[in-house]
Amino acid sequence: MLLGLQNLTFEFGARTIVEDATWHIQPNERIGLIGYNGTGKSTLLKVLTRQYLPSKGSVEQGKETTIGFLHQDLLSFDTNDSVLQVAMGAFERVLELEKEIEALGIELERTGDESLAIEYTDKLHELEVLDGYSIHHKTEEVLQGLGFPNESLQKPYKNFSGGWRMRVLLAKMILMKPDVLLLDEPTNHLDMPSIEWLEKYLSHYQGAVVVVSHDRFFLDRMVNKIVEIYQQQMHFYTGNYTYYQQEKALRIDMQQKAFENQQDYIRQQERVVERFKAKASKAGMAQSIMKKLDKIDRIENVELERPNIKINFLIDKQPGRVLCTLKNVSKSYGDIKILENTGAEIDRGDKIALIGANGKGKSTLLRVIVGNEEHEGERIWGHNVEESFYAQHQLEALNVNNDILEEMKESRSGKTDLELRSLLGCFLFSGDDVEKKIKVLSGGEKARVALAKTIVSKANFLMLDEPTNHLDMHSVELLIEALNKYEGSIVLVSHDRYFISRIANKIWEIEDHKIVEFKGSYAEWEEWKARREAERSKALKAAEPTKAPVEKKTPVKEQAQVQQPAPNTHIDKELKKEYQKHKNRFVQLEEKIAQLSKQKIELEAAMAAPESYNNKDKFQQTETAYNKVTAELSTLNKEYEVVFEKVMELEEKGI
Ligand SMILES: Nc1ncnc2c1ncn2[C@@H]1O[C@H](COP(=O)(O)OP(=O)(O)OP(=O)(O)O)[C@@H](O)[C@H]1O
Ligand SMILES: [Mg+2]
Repeated sequence: MLLGLQNLTFEFGARTIVEDATWHIQPNERIGLIGYNGTGKSTLLKVLTRQYLPSKGSVEQGKETTIGFLHQDLLSFDTNDSVLQVAMGAFERVLELEKEIEALGIELERTGDESLAIEYTDKLHELEVLDGYSIHHKTEEVLQGLGFPNESLQKPYKNFSGGWRMRVLLAKMILMKPDVLLLDEPTNHLDMPSIEWLEKYLSHYQGAVVVVSHDRFFLDRMVNKIVEIYQQQMHFYTGNYTYYQQEKALRIDMQQKAFENQQDYIRQQERVVERFKAKASKAGMAQSIMKKLDKIDRIENVELERPNIKINFLIDKQPGRVLCTLKNVSKSYGDIKILENTGAEIDRGDKIALIGANGKGKSTLLRVIVGNEEHEGERIWGHNVEESFYAQHQLEALNVNNDILEEMKESRSGKTDLELRSLLGCFLFSGDDVEKKIKVLSGGEKARVALAKTIVSKANFLMLDEPTNHLDMHSVELLIEALNKYEGSIVLVSHDRYFISRIANKIWEIEDHKIVEFKGSYAEWEEWKARREAERSKALKAAEPTKAPVEKKTPVKEQAQVQQPAPNTHIDKELKKEYQKHKNRFVQLEEKIAQLSKQKIELEAAMAAPESYNNKDKFQQTETAYNKVTAELSTLNKEYEVVFEKVMELEEKGI
């Protein structure tokens, strides 16, 4: 055994986290430590590393066992050293040796002392044994796997955001190769490619790994054992997450059946007692049955205890049709170009998911929309838009010395204490809980406070950066439901594919520094993307042997101006008549469309004008007119395309 708990009980004051828990971690095990938010996963890791002392029982650790523990509190570490230097800190002995060897070398040159030469070669030998010449290379490899571009490795650690710092520390930890690796929610700060890299890396790791995670995909690929903290007990499952789910359902089912059987038995015995206790001859028997019933080991009823947070996003005011328009927006950090001359529009009812790898600028774009980020170009805010922003690392933005209620008051919603308390109640902070200091809260509890703060303003436009981080799977489900009911607009950044697929009706991707919009759900987007890829490779293949495909369509306008057919061809009368008919309709349509487009722009302006909100009837009239024009335009545009094709076809025939 490397590390373990023996009949251990741990309490925070009156609150028991685990009772009489025994758990032994064996070499090379891959363990997922799971449980709802606030059940004590992070606490248990602190008990294992002896940061907290148990009230009963003991922590046992092998004599030689080394432990590495990655957790959120490490974020307070700060230094001017480069990213590479910090991660290379893993090779403390090697770095020390390098220094000693250098000093010895100088000394040796100066004195030529024989005994120094022996020491010198000894140290060189030790360096070799420790594989000291490859530490640079190894460190770079791990940092690159975790998403650091090569040129960033020399930059100072302190320039990086919390998420990236966490990655540096993770790199350092896995390079140290402790016998037991304790990782508290390592994927929270990673994007898909880095998560996949970590999965692969850890699968070859020579040591035991205990990982706390709320990511079922990660757990399924990573672990072969699940330890669940549930109702102050530890429950063990030998399998991955999917196995755990099935097995747990089975266990619950069995317990339920056993409970029902026992209840039936008890009821039947009680009836016997009831019948016989009045009869003198049978009173003794009744007595003994009663005694037996008292002694029975009662099976508990299965009550699935689930933390049901009640999220209810409400809005105060309806905004205008367009909430935010970006025009010709460009943004760079030094030489790094993020956005270049791009634009987009966020409309009422949009639920936009911003997707793509880290570093493409999702959070930057979100901050541009919020107005927290300097940039070139225009950002036009719509009318009556009341926004609320849930930032990435929002949790670190909470003031750790506040208690929960004080933190809520900082959002200046004008709500009374009573109202705030009742809102907090929906997020499972009841009674005295609201006086808990932020600093003692679990990750998920902090996320709940941050969510409550986002909600309190009744905003009609939510900007959410990684809102599912830290939340347990059940709470994510409830958040999804709430966001689907929400009547306002949303722009969100998330790496959680399940979450996005349940919420988004538009997908934004940053491609070549431009915002590329796809109108549709995530599933539709994936389909479209796959189709596009297939078409591209087909086009590429087709283009290879011959020349590039001939561009068929010429711009509409130019074609429309071709008034007369070529003169010296044979002209079929019927065809010519048909051609003229289409041609006339074509010109008509062009005029009509131009006219309606102008009307549409005017109506848009009218709807966006502040005074239009004062007169509800008028606004509705304008809106109806607007909808009508839009619908008509869409029909005409369709016809326009058909007629255009027809005209083209006839012209190709030489009319
Ligand atoms: N120092 C402390 N004093 C009092 N209560 C504490 C302290 N530290 C943690 N708690 C409480 O103990 C409970 C367990 O916290 P812990 O951080 O271990 O949960 P967790 O299982 O890691 O949750 P999450 O999934 O949200 O990370 C929480 O309700 C938390 O508020
Ligand atoms: Mg935790």
